[in-house]
Formats: sequence, C-alpha cells, structure tokens
Amino acid sequence: MIRSKIAGIGRYVPENIVKNEDLKQYMDTSDEWIIERTGIQERRYAHRTNETTTTMAVEASKIAIERAGITNQDIDFIVFATLSPDYYFPGCGVLLQREMKMKEIGALDVRNQCSGFVYALSVADQFIRTGTYKNILVIGSEKHSFGLDFSTRGRNVSVIFGDGAGAVVLQPTNHEKQGILSTHLHSDGESAEVLAMFNPGTHANHWNAGKPVADFDDAVIGEMFFSHAMIDKAQVFPNMDGPAVFKKAIVKFPEVINEALQQNGYTSADLNMLIPHQANLRISQFVQQKMGLRDDQVFNNIQRYGNTTAGSIPIALCEAWEEGKIKDGDLVCLAAFGSGFTWGSVLLNW
Ligand code: ACO
Repeated sequence: MIRSKIAGIGRYVPENIVKNEDLKQYMDTSDEWIIERTGIQERRYAHRTNETTTTMAVEASKIAIERAGITNQDIDFIVFATLSPDYYFPGCGVLLQREMKMKEIGALDVRNQCSGFVYALSVADQFIRTGTYKNILVIGSEKHSFGLDFSTRGRNVSVIFGDGAGAVVLQPTNHEKQGILSTHLHSDGESAEVLAMFNPGTHANHWNAGKPVADFDDAVIGEMFFSHAMIDKAQVFPNMDGPAVFKKAIVKFPEVINEALQQNGYTSADLNMLIPHQANLRISQFVQQKMGLRDDQVFNNIQRYGNTTAGSIPIALCEAWEEGKIKDGDLVCLAAFGSGFTWGSVLLNW
C-alpha cells in the first residue's frame, strides 16, 4: 500500500528577535501579562523590506528539498498555506515556483489559517496515495508582523503572533512502519466571525447586519472593497474573541487527536509525539492535561516564536526532529485548530 512520507523538512525564522518588553514601545502591555496568558516570551519579525511570506518559505523549502536528497526540478506539485500572502492575488505558490525556478507544475494555495498546514498536508497526501505526484512541496508560512494593530487597541491579538515558515517534501513509500496513516479535517462556520480579518473583502456587511464590520457611509460600489474609512477606523486588522477561541479549541483539539488515534487502533499512551498548532501555550497545556500526556509527548516552542499560524506545525515538527525528539518509526500526531473555525489532525509514523 502506498503512503506518503515526509522525506525532508526545513524551517526558517527571521533573525530579528522581538521580546515582550520590546512591544512596550508600541502599546501598553507587559512581559508578565503576555507570559501568564500565552506563554510567549519572544517572537521573530521579518525584515521590513527584504523578507516576505514567500521568501521565508523559499528558505525553509531549500532545506526540506536538500534533506530529501532531490532538487527543485524534482518537485511536481506545490501546496502553500498562509493567511498573510505577499499579494491579495495571485497566491504565494506561484511566487515560490518562480523564485525557486521550478518547472510549470501546479501550485495550490490553501487558506485555512491555523489549520492551513494540516489541510495542505491532507491534500498532498491524497495526490501521493493515488500515485499522481512523487515529490510534493508542502509549506506553511506567515509574515504577521505587517498586518497587526500595534496600538494598545490591538494588543490582545498583536502580542500573540510571529513570523516564520516551515516546509516538507512529501514522497510515496510502501514501508510498513512509515508515513501518514490518516488525516482528519473539520469545520464549523457558525463562528466564522469570532477570529477573523474582515477587510478588505466583498462582504458589504452582509453577514453582520447587527454589527457592521466596515463603515461604508455613502461609498459607491468601487469604494467598498477597501476604503479610506476602513483605514481611518482601524477596520483592517484581525479581530479575535479570545475566550471564545479558547473554549472551542480545548474541546476540538482532543476530539480530533482522539479521532486519529482511534481510527488507527491507538490510544494517547501510544503517542510518541504530539505537535499541536502553537496557538497559545495555555491551550497546549490544557490539551496535554486533558489527554493525560507526559511532557515528553508534547512539543511546544511558542515561547520563542509566538503563534506563526500556518507555519507553526512545520516549524515545531522540524525543530522537534532536529533536537532528536522524533525518531524513525515514532507515532506522531499533528493537530490544529483555528479561524473558521477549522480544525484537523494528521497521524503518521516518522
Ligand atoms: N497586555 C496587557 N493587557 C492586555 C493585553 C496585553 N497584550 N491584551 C489584553 N489586555 C487586557 C484587556 O484590555 C483586558 O483589560 P480590562 O480587564 O481592564 O478590560 C484584560 O487584559 C483581559 O482582556 P481579554 O481580551 O479578555 O484577555 P483574555 O484574558 O481573554 O486573554 C487571550 C486574551 C490571551 C487571547 C485569551 O483570551 C486566550 O488565551 N485566548 C485563546 C485564544 C488564543 O490564544 N488565540 C491565539 C490565536 S488563534 C489560534 O491560533 C487558534
């Protein structure tokens, strides 16, 4: 039976370290508040002009491709997950294809925010299993630092996020104890507005009759996608109802991890490593406790990188492997939850 294996993995985080104390120059916050609520001590911010979501992805991809022992020319499909693309359109996939001088292969962009990498991996897994492609590059990358509200008004969101990228090369294997066992994807659009960036967009306040998310005044149609009023009224930043996200996340994370374990006849005791999306250390700790996992069964690095959304799982997976915490044959679960809400898991043998 053909399965997909991770043949190479790479990560890239910008050099620029931004400590909690550094954020005090923009907003009223404190090291204590951020650490207590999120566990984050520092994050990385990309270079203002020299680094983009795509250039960081290129750096991570170079490492993944080299570790897979192949060249850029061998890649036959790209799946790129991000919520902070270089352009509104086209997506980052084609920019990466151009930058890495790849063949005229397919480039798919995935927009599932924090679950983006899990969704991307699941799509790539189907193409490998069916024998369609042999070397798929799957990427999660974010440059959040460009799109956050750095005033005190936006502090509940902006202190959480950081920049970075991770990438894997997926290849077929028929080795019995290697590769992706199953993937599980879910959504519940009931809470789409709980964690969202509304503008620019085509919504025209359609979904928010009681609570408009843009002020159009007497704007004509051509001024409703992106307007001066949106900028003046700070309506162009992400919004988050933190407690609502927390409540749902701590239910859906264990649910989707258990779904993956049960489908394959395992329990949490069999798990060698859980790589949760690095949303918030408190969420990961809650999930760990609820599932009865030991410290050595869960990997967290949000303390040093913040929440890098689509980038967080491949960065954490790569770091855990580099540190020798994941070995050949280990049972590893990747799990994500985020905006949408969407959530999902991937269970694999390393
Ligand atoms: N620094 C200092 N004070 C702050 C900050 C800050 N950065 N942010 C908010 N505050 C203040 C608020 O103004 C408020 O003050 P008040 O009581 O005087 O009005 C107080 O702290 C509490 O504010 P809340 O917004 O209610 O903050 P909360 O205690 O809920 O903590 C947090 C926010 C950390 C986001 C929390 O809700 C949480 O852990 N949520 C989980 C969701 C999450 O972590 N999402 C991550 C990204 S989404 C994802 O990846 C799935």
